[in-house]
Amino acid sequence: MKTLGIETSCDETAAAVVEDGVRILSNQIASQVEIHARYGGVVPEVASRQHILAIIPIIEQAMAEAKATWSDLEGIAVTIGPGLAGSLLVGVNVAKAIALARGLPITGVNHLEGHIYANWLIDRSIEFPLVCLIVSGGHSDLVLMKGHGDYVVLGRTRDDAAGEAFDKAARILELGYPGGPAIEQAARAGTASIQLPRAWLKGTSDFSFSGIKTALLRLVEAGKVSFSTNQGSELPTVADAAASFQEAVIDVLVTKTVAVAKEHRVKQILLAGGVASNERLRQRLVKNSPLPVLIPPPVLCTDNAAMIAACGYSRFRAGKTDGLDLDVIPGLKLA
Ligand code: KG4
Ligand code: ZN
Repeated sequence: MKTLGIETSCDETAAAVVEDGVRILSNQIASQVEIHARYGGVVPEVASRQHILAIIPIIEQAMAEAKATWSDLEGIAVTIGPGLAGSLLVGVNVAKAIALARGLPITGVNHLEGHIYANWLIDRSIEFPLVCLIVSGGHSDLVLMKGHGDYVVLGRTRDDAAGEAFDKAARILELGYPGGPAIEQAARAGTASIQLPRAWLKGTSDFSFSGIKTALLRLVEAGKVSFSTNQGSELPTVADAAASFQEAVIDVLVTKTVAVAKEHRVKQILLAGGVASNERLRQRLVKNSPLPVLIPPPVLCTDNAAMIAACGYSRFRAGKTDGLDLDVIPGLKLA
């Protein structure tokens, strides 16, 4: 069974063909990152116009690389939300057009559910119940999963998402866009010498990252971080500040995830979303967890369509097929 996945929720135009929900036959991604970098963030209008230009060639490349014909497909899985309305519309309308023209079933996929299902692309023997930490540009969710499609959100961010916090910290430290990889790269040359506040929000599994970001901003504004490349300054450097920020965010993410997993006596922990490509987060979670931890390779953590196809396969198995009235839901939640 081959599923075509289509993903256009933000600034990546992606198409992939996945077999039986687990084997990637192709995984094509056209990134717009260079276009948005000059504005320091994603410009929605520009993103949707780029999706229109890229979507057909990307689908053709995915089908060609997979050596798939339309009649090989079981169906089409497309992201319907959460995401930017104009961007989502491009993927959903193209998916519906193909479904109508080729008489194929279609299923609308929640982008966050897609991130979780990236894990099935690396291990098909995943056991429930499990806890998944989804950390992306828009979300930091701790999710209990008792079966396919069965989600209980145990905790979420009360302000900035983890990825958003990385992006804002990178702006404060003048490290450019996208912020997550820039902070990780800068942090490699520094030490986490600055003690930044952690919001533990005791008694809940929620997160809050805006305090860490504000503390960093105050230090920079007070001239307590050296932006100079000259050696000899007594002050912590930008690299030290990046390492300290990264450590503070990861500390909270790892501690709370492990606590929730123990509390709910799950069999394993999954990690998902763009921030899951952070090497330090991956290492710390594996080191601190008494349970098995599953983490997709970085290319399957950031936005891609293979994860949407994997999730779509599971939805088709459960009989969750949509009609051609399928629409985008920009504010879609997991549960
Ligand atoms: O999942 P994703 O690709 O898109 C959304 O669904 O939002 O996540 C993008 C986010 C961005 O905020 C980006 O800065 C962050 O993931 N990110 C990282 C790393 N790579 C991407 N954050 C920390 N470390 C990284 N290596
Ligand atoms: Zn994403």
